Amino acid sequence: MTVNTGELLELAVSVAREAGRMLLDSRPARLEVVGTKSSPTDVVTEMDRAAERLIRSRILAARPGDAFLGEEGGASGEGARVRWIVDPIDGTVNYLYALPAWAVSIAVEVDGEIVAGVVDIPPLGEVFTAAKGEGAYLAGRRLRCTTEVPLDRALVATGFGYERGRRVVQAEVLTHVIPRVRDIRRGGSCAVDLCSVASGRVDGYFERGAQVWDFAAGGLIAGEAGAVIGGLHGRPAGPDMTLCASPGLFKELHDLLVPLDPERDA
Ligand code: IPD
Ligand code: CA
Ligand code: CA
Repeated sequence: MTVNTGELLELAVSVAREAGRMLLDSRPARLEVVGTKSSPTDVVTEMDRAAERLIRSRILAARPGDAFLGEEGGASGEGARVRWIVDPIDGTVNYLYALPAWAVSIAVEVDGEIVAGVVDIPPLGEVFTAAKGEGAYLAGRRLRCTTEVPLDRALVATGFGYERGRRVVQAEVLTHVIPRVRDIRRGGSCAVDLCSVASGRVDGYFERGAQVWDFAAGGLIAGEAGAVIGGLHGRPAGPDMTLCASPGLFKELHDLLVPLDPERDA
């Protein structure tokens, strides 16, 4: 099939919006937890699964030859040039509690590179988009991350894993970070946090344990807004560490984190 980034982004946006509307409109009055993943607090609701089924069916109906990786349903179509990377609800705990920071995240990868991404935050009516080399946008407005914010003035978002041993280390690392920054935010959605870096609502973000479906779309959006996204020691962003900020703050945060050895579990 043809690969036109604009068309891929258009499909991603329309499918993300449809799933977002469904998640708002069809949320049961008593939303049940139907499963758990890495720990008893890492929950899945029927709506995570329904949203991913909807997204998968719409995308593969339009582009049957493409590969698909979804948090809930796993991978299909290995070997295709185009791969869709989807988190149907990033911020499920917020969705469960009816807090507004949750998002539908869809990224499109072509030949191993993320070229388009959308993060739809239905409760806020905000749709963040980016195409590689063409900037990041919210409601027609081009986004720029904050620049030249020193570490001690930086508002930094972070997140915590679901396993106890990981949280013990994350809490310990934070005791060294909090005294060095303006403040910390724990919003509950990696994709929303990365869009917040893109739009200057926070200055930076770091988290151990974020998966590709959490950061693929938001990472492109932040990158197209001028931020750097990566791991420690020049490695790419990944489950070991995902760090995102303007180039200067990225370095300061990186150098603060490295001696704390944050890529370990207790
Ligand atoms: C989670 C959110 C959260 C982050 C966790 C993720 P989920 O995704 O992005 O902010 O701290 O690491 O697992 O489970 O709500 O899709
Ligand atoms: Ca997620
Ligand atoms: Ca999810």
